[in-house]
Amino acid sequence: LAPLRHLTSINDLSNDEVEKVFALAERYLKTLGDGPRIVRGMKEGRSFVLATLFHEPSTRTRLSFESATLRLGGRVISSADPAASSAKKGESLADEVRMVSNYADAIVIRHHRDGAARFAAEYAQVPIINGGDGAHEHPTQTIGDLFTLKREKGKLTGLNVALVGDLATSRTVHSLVYALARFGANIVPMPAPGMALPAHVDRRLRGEFGCAVKTSRGRTGEMYYVAASDAARDQKVEARIDAVYVTRFQAERWKGGAKNYPRVDPKFLRDRRYGRAAVLHPLPRVDELAIAVDNDRRSAYFRQAAYMVPVRMALAALLLGLDGDGWQRFPSGFRKSPHKILERPANAAARCTNKKCIVHDPAERLHARNKFHVMAPRRLRCFYCETDIEAGPKRKNG
Ligand code: NCD
Repeated sequence: LAPLRHLTSINDLSNDEVEKVFALAERYLKTLGDGPRIVRGMKEGRSFVLATLFHEPSTRTRLSFESATLRLGGRVISSADPAASSAKKGESLADEVRMVSNYADAIVIRHHRDGAARFAAEYAQVPIINGGDGAHEHPTQTIGDLFTLKREKGKLTGLNVALVGDLATSRTVHSLVYALARFGANIVPMPAPGMALPAHVDRRLRGEFGCAVKTSRGRTGEMYYVAASDAARDQKVEARIDAVYVTRFQAERWKGGAKNYPRVDPKFLRDRRYGRAAVLHPLPRVDELAIAVDNDRRSAYFRQAAYMVPVRMALAALLLGLDGDGWQRFPSGFRKSPHKILERPANAAARCTNKKCIVHDPAERLHARNKFHVMAPRRLRCFYCETDIEAGPKRKNG
């Protein structure tokens, strides 16, 4: 069997690899595109079959992946409605991906559980592409978001990117903040009340991704995560915003409603600091982004949605090696982890504390293991949903 390569987190890719996607997506736009749209196809991918396995609603992610595959010359098979699949009969995701591995060359999966993509990857014999797993990550959206930012603003390094809305449970935001930090952009969180970035994401930005936390000049005095590059660290943070990334209240991940949810509309954008800001949104939008912004020259979200096709064509081509060597493959589908892995039987005391993690799904009970990266002597990170688990204080014997 050819070695695999999975894409479950934005951090499964190096910056060079992301740049390779950008370059190939640019090439597809040039040779097969009309403005931001792909309008022609090629034949190179004619033996490629993509399966889209969607356990949660989707329009853009599924259809743009399917469109991308068709433009490459390949074909798609799709399970878009969990009520119409064997999941309804109680089949586990583990068995499902094992089966679908026989029918396709790559699987795009969307699931309501955090960590579902990594979990699926353990049972797949073909590359797993995460199309959104619970509140965890949505890495291919992020590559399209970065591609859009780069096209709109000409660069990523040094940009000030404001994130507006539900930063707590938006998976697009979680993949995006890691990527922004890695590419030297500064992050300006503007959460809805009670919807700040999760504590473990904040800690990773400060620790692993080397962001410094600063307060901006000017009357707003917001908190910025300043990227680790030396240039960015020394600079005074300007109140200027280069891009506003708006997200929907993720109603399906909360019990109650949202109070005082921010709204990006012409009034919001009138402030001088947003004078040249590109407005992005992964879509779908509800009320948080006014339709009055659609005709504003700063709106970039429909182009952003269009770019998902060339970006996903490039991703598929690189994963499958349709374009030269593609990416380097890894024996287990992943780069070797720098952290020790700890595996415990299902009934062990060490368990992921995130109740939304795939390991707690009743359908996966027999397949799920308690598996962690050992981050520090008293800190474990769930292998699947990447939630950090702090061990309690050491008990003294006697
Ligand atoms: C997002 C998602 O599913 O996470 N949609 C998308 O893929 N473009 C955003 C959302 O649902 O709010």
